[in-house]
Amino acid sequence: LGEPLFKRVAKLRWYHTLELPGGIVTPGDVDTRAAAGRVPFPSLEGKRCLDIGTMNGFWAFEMERRGAAEVVALDVEDPRDLDWPPRTRLLNPNASYESLDHVAEAFHLAREALDSRVERLVMRIDDLSPATVDGFDFVFIGGVLVHLRDPIGGLDRIREICLGDAIVFDLIDLTGSLLSRRTPRATLDARHVWWWSPNLAALTRMIESAGWELVKRSPVLTLPRGPGATRPSLGRLLRSHPNMLFAGLAGDPHVAWYVRPLRAPPLDRPDESKPLRAPFS
Ligand SMILES: C[S@@+](CC[C@H](N)C(=O)[O-])C[C@H]1O[C@@H](n2cnc3c(N)ncnc32)[C@H](O)[C@@H]1O
Repeated sequence: LGEPLFKRVAKLRWYHTLELPGGIVTPGDVDTRAAAGRVPFPSLEGKRCLDIGTMNGFWAFEMERRGAAEVVALDVEDPRDLDWPPRTRLLNPNASYESLDHVAEAFHLAREALDSRVERLVMRIDDLSPATVDGFDFVFIGGVLVHLRDPIGGLDRIREICLGDAIVFDLIDLTGSLLSRRTPRATLDARHVWWWSPNLAALTRMIESAGWELVKRSPVLTLPRGPGATRPSLGRLLRSHPNMLFAGLAGDPHVAWYVRPLRAPPLDRPDESKPLRAPFS
């Protein structure tokens, strides 16, 4: 008889709070369970789906639970493949999210416990293209864009392999969204493991500019800390930036956009009977 599941779970470090058989809940850093019910997923019945930046696989398992025929869970496993600001990397040469080995190990344990058929694919977003993967009917990307130097480039890569529709789910700057409702503004952080802190208008504009049609947006969804997270003291929270205070009390504010790739109309055939004119003459 093998080691009981709860003991194997306890030995690992968890990012996601996952419900496993036998009433076991993994001690995650974040708890995405309540948000999952409010993300505007289309029907996934019979679809081939991709989860980008899967970590312990919460969203990949959620898509399988919603009836996807096939789910591919993409992530990197070599910390050098994370697109961190070079300064952060140079000052913390051995750092990664939690040791990416642990992240993958936890994913595989959850997959086994859930008797899941989700397939893990080790690949950087930058390497996604119609030449490297078959197209997907549905793509989910959550919590990744703020970690990319070029989030619009990432969204562009994803559009090229998305045959149907997608959800882009990411963190927003709450005070920046309240103070600047219409103007897209993203703060450059780049001193930690994330580059950008976009307000809601900026996240929306990033998606649009990468060639996606905006279909439907969720309300602001907060992701509370999970049972495994370390909690800062109330005194420390009260002395912090309003965004940190809000995140500490309610959770990190996220928004989910349900989107579709824009398809270019067919090019007009030039009328050969007319002389060609320079574009701006
Ligand atoms: C903050 S976690 C988000 C986890 C999960 N998607 C969610 O929304 O709960 C970011 C994930 O993106 C992955 N990631 C970061 N940069 C990446 C890149 N360039 N290519 C692929 N995955 C990347 C990380 O390894 C990590 O699993």
